[in-house]
Amino acid sequence: MLSHEDNERLTRVGRGTPMGEVFRRYWLPTLLSPELVGDGSPVRLKLLGENLVAFRSTNGDAGIVDAFCPHRRGPMFFGRNEKGGLRCAYHGWKFAPGGECLDMPTEPKDSSYRSRIRIKSYPCFESGGMLWTYMGPPDQQPPRPDFELLRAPSTHRCVSRTVQDCNYLQALEGGLDSSHATILHNITIGDLTFLDDYERTTPKLNVQSRDYGFQYSGIRVTGNRHWVRVYQYIMPATQLRARSVPVRGETAPPRVPLINGHFWIPNDDVTTTVFNFSYSADPAIELDRQFWLAAEADYGRGPDDVLPDFRLKKNLANNYMIDRELQKTRSFTGITGINTQDVAIQEGMGPIADRSEEHLGSTDGAIVALRRLLMEATRRVASGGTLRGIDPATYRGVRAVDHYADGEADIPALIAREVQARY
Ligand code: FES
Ligand SMILES: [Fe+2]
Repeated sequence: MLSHEDNERLTRVGRGTPMGEVFRRYWLPTLLSPELVGDGSPVRLKLLGENLVAFRSTNGDAGIVDAFCPHRRGPMFFGRNEKGGLRCAYHGWKFAPGGECLDMPTEPKDSSYRSRIRIKSYPCFESGGMLWTYMGPPDQQPPRPDFELLRAPSTHRCVSRTVQDCNYLQALEGGLDSSHATILHNITIGDLTFLDDYERTTPKLNVQSRDYGFQYSGIRVTGNRHWVRVYQYIMPATQLRARSVPVRGETAPPRVPLINGHFWIPNDDVTTTVFNFSYSADPAIELDRQFWLAAEADYGRGPDDVLPDFRLKKNLANNYMIDRELQKTRSFTGITGINTQDVAIQEGMGPIADRSEEHLGSTDGAIVALRRLLMEATRRVASGGTLRGIDPATYRGVRAVDHYADGEADIPALIAREVQARY
């Protein structure tokens, strides 16, 4: 449980709020690179409560600028993207991706006014098929991120994005909460006895603090083996997990062993963009598009499941198309799509979950650790301290693990071996 004050502290992300200032110390993914076309349509973008516009210039450079023109606040979204800059449609002032004013047709030719005007812009770069930006103080700009995902060749990785109507923290907490997997996502409930089997249902959690956040393992006993899943939480809002062994009655491992994960990026206090990524855990195996699309469809966020604004077609307004008969007979939720089930829970909590009313239990260790780190970060940012996960060297060598161990004694060595990045 959190006090109302602490809940506010961790969930509000606007400029000047404690958590808003934490997010403003990290590079954040914002859009998928293909959303921007050279000299093409600008894209509206809301990030940490700020209204922005992204565009790609003639030479391919991307820019993220204020949604409103510095002249008289004309909407830059309706601007003309032409010849190296975005020109406001109101009086024609034109701005480069970096914010410089390139042209001021309404001022005398010999005026130097242009050199003194800029549109607010944020630095950006592209990596891993995403456009990244940094919104914090220029003198605090950290090195660029170095996730293993970003080093995997483009033939070995894929990324999608979805938008959720809820605060980032309840989505992030859902991602770090491994204990719900066997319950919420259970689609073979012909036999409900698993609910009586504490050992089978509930993972043994072990959370270990790291310079980048924490590593946590969920270990479940299945038959005479131990199913070992190691997740990574990299501050402020990244999760890594793996999928490489047969689960839920499968007889063979997946054709492409995967490291999966998400970046949860607050658009504002009640809207969150989620980047969903996968890369092949094995450098010798490519991640082909078909395999990825099938997995995305399985998650309920394939191309047919998502609206043009990146929200799911199954949403709160239609109760995620819950099928109560299916819920009685086969699926724990009656909602189809693993990710859709997550979104139903996370959005169904309301725009910002009221954590002053909750009661944490024995499987909530990762949630407690997460909140501690975020609280610590808000204090450090206020006192000028160093934040975890800012230095890419702290996390570049790690990945997630999904493996079986024969004996309990084998688990530490297995984790130490498999947690090493391979790209
Ligand atoms: S408001 Fe943009 S040029 Fe006047
Ligand atoms: Fe889930």
